[in-house]
Amino acid sequence: MKSRNLNSIDCKPFELLLDQKTIARRVVELGKQITHDYHDKNPVMIGVLKGCIVFVADLMRHIKLPLELEFVAAASYRKGAKREQQVEFGGPAHIALKDRNILITEGVVDTGRTVTTLLKQLAKEEPASMEIVTLIDKPASHRTKLNIKYKGFTVGNEFVIGYGLDNTQKYRNLPFIGSVIDSE
Ligand code: IMP
Ligand code: MG
Repeated sequence: MKSRNLNSIDCKPFELLLDQKTIARRVVELGKQITHDYHDKNPVMIGVLKGCIVFVADLMRHIKLPLELEFVAAASYRKGAKREQQVEFGGPAHIALKDRNILITEGVVDTGRTVTTLLKQLAKEEPASMEIVTLIDKPASHRTKLNIKYKGFTVGNEFVIGYGLDNTQKYRNLPFIGSVIDSE
């Protein structure tokens, strides 16, 4: 039986931006950097679903520390004329965050609305520290001032897919990152 080739069939509207080896190398570097910076700590990684999943899975294995993992899901909704962002915890039970060192881990930071909302919400839990980790940063799209300590790659305004990132829920399973050239 012939196997379907994802790269040639499903990826027509995209062009390769970051290949597997390039991503893997950068993820190792980020893991080393975090391991070094948190050598005397037990951080809590909080992944922002769903775009974070592949990045978190790879990155956590390069963090050589006692690490705990939590996930949150972010949802946008309209409240009157004002667009607001609601961020909810993804599971019923979550780790007590008071005095913990939090690593908010995103697949992509675009406007920064999600991480900003999350930072505000998590601050109420009185953690010892919070830093943002993102595989992809789009600084030209930021709407607020952001301090992103750990970033894999900086891109322009293009829409990226693969390695956990979707376009209308598809392409998350591509092992590389592509840039949309035809959004049809
Ligand atoms: P924010 O604008 O920084 O709050 O990002 C909101 C969300 O939009 C991200 O968590 C992603 O789910 C999604 N997003 C933004 N840019 C891209 C992209 O280039 N590819 C895939 N998803 C994106
Ligand atoms: Mg999405």
